[in-house]
Amino acid sequence: MQLKKKAVIFDLDGVICFTDKFHYQAWKVLADRLGIYFDETINNRLRGVSRMASLEIILERSAMKYTQEEKAAFTEEKNDIYRELLKKMSPADLTDEVKDTLNELRRRGYKLSIGSSSKNTKFILGQIGLGDFFDAVADGTDIVRSKPDPEVFLKSAEKIGIAPDQCVVVEDAKAGIQAAKAGGMTALALFGDARDCGFEDYNLRSFDDLLNVL
Ligand code: BG6
Ligand code: MG
Repeated sequence: MQLKKKAVIFDLDGVICFTDKFHYQAWKVLADRLGIYFDETINNRLRGVSRMASLEIILERSAMKYTQEEKAAFTEEKNDIYRELLKKMSPADLTDEVKDTLNELRRRGYKLSIGSSSKNTKFILGQIGLGDFFDAVADGTDIVRSKPDPEVFLKSAEKIGIAPDQCVVVEDAKAGIQAAKAGGMTALALFGDARDCGFEDYNLRSFDDLLNVL
């Protein structure tokens, strides 16, 4: 497949870098404290899902009914643990494959931006040395509706001034692929439950496979 597009919008977690293990560790501390069973399979369901929606998935295993205030405190507690873990990230967590591919796409003239549900996006980009790299960043702090709603990708496209039908989205979550399609964009699946989810336009073999389709 050969695409003639103007911009590439990247999901962050699971595409540019791998934060799943930190999300897992942080949620696990909270779940253990609350006496709720939580494992890596349940953690997989949190991919691309907002922070509060992730907590709701974890609470499916709890017999307790919590108030909105308690739930807000739980998500804050998890985020504090998660942010501590993110401090361990450094430019060494950005692979040469991702770095080289991004540089080559820029050389080819593509606008490059981020569309992530995470409210920690800018912190993570700073940790891995990409704080100033992208033409625009749209993240969890810009939106009211999480993926599969297209809001974050439409915001990202708007920030770079490119029409949605000229944008390609790279995603590792099925919800993200659905969001890209709902926004009228081309959806490329990489890893995760995005692969072969039935909504993708193309399954990427690897991150640098982007250079074969763009
Ligand atoms: C997504 C992750 O990128 O961001 C989800 O895939 C996470 O697992 C979501 O829940 C929200 O992240 P944060 O950093 O705002 O808690
Ligand atoms: Mg992701």
